[in-house]
Amino acid sequence: MTKLKITETVLRDGHQSLIATRMKTEEMLPILETLDEIGYSALEMWGGATYDSCLRFLNEDPWERLRVIRKRMKKTKLQMLLRGQNLLGYKHYADDVVDEFVKKAIGNGIDIIRIFDALNDTRNLARAIEVTKREGGHAQGAISFTRSPAHTNETFINLAKELEQMGADSVCIKDMSGLMDPYNTYTLISEMKKTVSIPIELHTHATSGLGAMTYLKAIEAGVDIVDTALSPFGEGTSQPSTEPLAAVLRGTERDPGLNQELLNVAAAYFKPIREKYQAEGLMDPKLLGVDINTLTYQVPGGMLSNLVSQLKQQNAMDKFEEVLKEVPRVREDLGYPPLVTPTSQIVGTQAVLNVVTGQRYKMIPNEVKQLVKGMYGKTTVPIKEEIVKKIIGDDEQITCRPADLIAPELEANRKAISQYIEQDEDVLTYALFPQQAEKFFQYRNAQRLRIDAALVDGENKVYPV
Ligand code: CO
Repeated sequence: MTKLKITETVLRDGHQSLIATRMKTEEMLPILETLDEIGYSALEMWGGATYDSCLRFLNEDPWERLRVIRKRMKKTKLQMLLRGQNLLGYKHYADDVVDEFVKKAIGNGIDIIRIFDALNDTRNLARAIEVTKREGGHAQGAISFTRSPAHTNETFINLAKELEQMGADSVCIKDMSGLMDPYNTYTLISEMKKTVSIPIELHTHATSGLGAMTYLKAIEAGVDIVDTALSPFGEGTSQPSTEPLAAVLRGTERDPGLNQELLNVAAAYFKPIREKYQAEGLMDPKLLGVDINTLTYQVPGGMLSNLVSQLKQQNAMDKFEEVLKEVPRVREDLGYPPLVTPTSQIVGTQAVLNVVTGQRYKMIPNEVKQLVKGMYGKTTVPIKEEIVKKIIGDDEQITCRPADLIAPELEANRKAISQYIEQDEDVLTYALFPQQAEKFFQYRNAQRLRIDAALVDGENKVYPV
């Protein structure tokens, strides 16, 4: 077997999972050259919530972060996470927006794009995979892992095969809730290795306490790449930590060959950053322990805390257990979607409403109707006719790819925001997060006026970097 490869997630999933994606670019800068020398095959540093968080909380241009990191990372591949046709937002976008986004992401320095869909509807990945390849990037097709009577190892192996046929350069099993266990993972990876010839990457979370064990069995089964986070941003609801895995494999045939000394330097660098955010209260202690209930309820950590807050608002915390039991029933009704953004919110909200109103489907949120209508794509198994009837009445379900119904949107966005445009990428920021974008552009303008005024005064030291 060949050397294992490691994707480091400290600059994306690590801080997204533990400190709500609040790490600033300036906190990343001083350690980038060190990270570049460690020997990672890739650094995941963009996508997911990072883009939203830059605009919403940090007053940063996410594109500038990408360029700045690219400039300092000369050897290591940069990787991002993309929600298929949803890009980095929460709805489907027209193909022209997908094309432009992928083109700019690669143009600004992204090497690998990991592309997934909440329903595992491969039609929602097709366009992004195609453009990524056309633009010279590495298209990684990702499978959202879940458990249900409709999901077997064969389901995931078939998906992997399909992604390979669609032109994906590698495939990722994305276990966003940390549901995978070591022994079944061994079987799954062994079988998948026999079926596909592109590299297989595994992404899990340590939430249930199984993450590191799962990785070890996956490595024994021949997985090509695993995702880990440097220890200050590892474990709990994040990935298993990088340093222990590197230590376990040192000297074996699968030794990823990471530089131990530099791993220690990087871990020591991130420790005070973690402590700072912990002191600010951003790191909920609940995120750090082992939560074996993840396996029982099969509900991702983020979704559990959402359910709790919805029930508290309704003054109905006594119904918590009942809601937990209702979640799998709603999920079955809706065709067993994997629970990840946005399906986790959709299923969770319906479960809460079913319990709190005392009558199933008495109240139905619009998102549930859209899901049943097919507007998010094809569900794992078709939704039963009686449920379709109950939720959308006589409305028809669509069977085409949802984005086929969306007319081009890029030019309208360009017009709407023309007064603020300083770079082509601004149009994408506006298309994805219109409100946050406008607020950020105004901030950027004000900032620039201040700087110009200071320059006139002969003081240029305020120029931000
Ligand atoms: Co993740």
